Amino acid sequence: NWSMDDFIDLQVNSIREEVGDKKVILGLSGGVDSSVTAALLNRAIGDQLTAIFVDHGLLRKNEADEVMSALADGLGINIVKVDAADRFLGKLQGVTDPEKKRKIIGNEFVEVFNDEARKLKDADFLAQGTLYTDVIESGTDTAQTIKSHHNVGGLPEELGFKLIEPLRSLFKDETRALGEKLGIPHDLVWRQPFPGPGLGIRVIGEITPEKLALVRDADAILREEVKKAGLDEEIWQYFVALPGMRSVGVMGDGRTYDYAVCIRAVTSIDGMTADFAQIPWDILQKISVRIVNEVDHINRVLYDVTSKPPATIEYE
Ligand code: XMP
Repeated sequence: NWSMDDFIDLQVNSIREEVGDKKVILGLSGGVDSSVTAALLNRAIGDQLTAIFVDHGLLRKNEADEVMSALADGLGINIVKVDAADRFLGKLQGVTDPEKKRKIIGNEFVEVFNDEARKLKDADFLAQGTLYTDVIESGTDTAQTIKSHHNVGGLPEELGFKLIEPLRSLFKDETRALGEKLGIPHDLVWRQPFPGPGLGIRVIGEITPEKLALVRDADAILREEVKKAGLDEEIWQYFVALPGMRSVGVMGDGRTYDYAVCIRAVTSIDGMTADFAQIPWDILQKISVRIVNEVDHINRVLYDVTSKPPATIEYE
């Protein structure tokens, strides 16, 4: 029966003992698990940790800045941010198949990470935010277990790192509580799941900078209104996707032929099954009006009323 403070002391000591005066690198996605791992390592070994934050250009509005301000400015974590949007978008140009998109994003992520990791020649350890549930799900107890959705598969073997996984005994809720104890802002620690390929799988079909901008702006409005309505910790996941279809509308005196966006909002326990969230009509109306008024080239907002199964939470 331990407290979170005991856990922190224990881990800090054991990390210090294991690492000694060596260096550690970590792939920071901005998600809860890697952020909490980074904060814990920072507490233990400070700047002996280098966190590599790959901005693939598929993050939500202001997300990269929020991560940097909370973790680098706020907690003093040593973060190298790599702006790789051009690289990712270049590789994704013309690609429409969802699995191909995932594969490209995953491979590119590993390459960008490797390029940066190689620059830090003297790092001996790789830290990862593996949780207890990941250990169970993988069905193996090897230290080589890598969360595939962290997009760093194959790294330790390839580069010869030793793994550090200080959250291996924790569940998600415990990880969030630990994150708050370590000073990560509440909103960052309790935020909704966000897939590794990011907005890349929410722009359905071919990804273009224009479509990404539409999704980003519409999604920011949805998130703002859901939070304002106090529904943000009740709904498991809520986001905007762009199906790529265009349709006719009227605006002022004119006819428009512009994009539609889908609002996807679900309640769930673990993401394996989900029900569509019953957001009150007046809130949906407000969101719809704001999106159409504030985001150029969107003239229609659709609400997805499908559960999982038979649909999935994401569209790709
Ligand atoms: P689906 O769409 O399969 O999503 O119902 C279930 C949960 O998994 C997330 N998801 C992903 N997470 N990489 C990730 O890291 C992915 O490629 C990916 N695809 C789906 C999704 O956001 C939901 O929480």
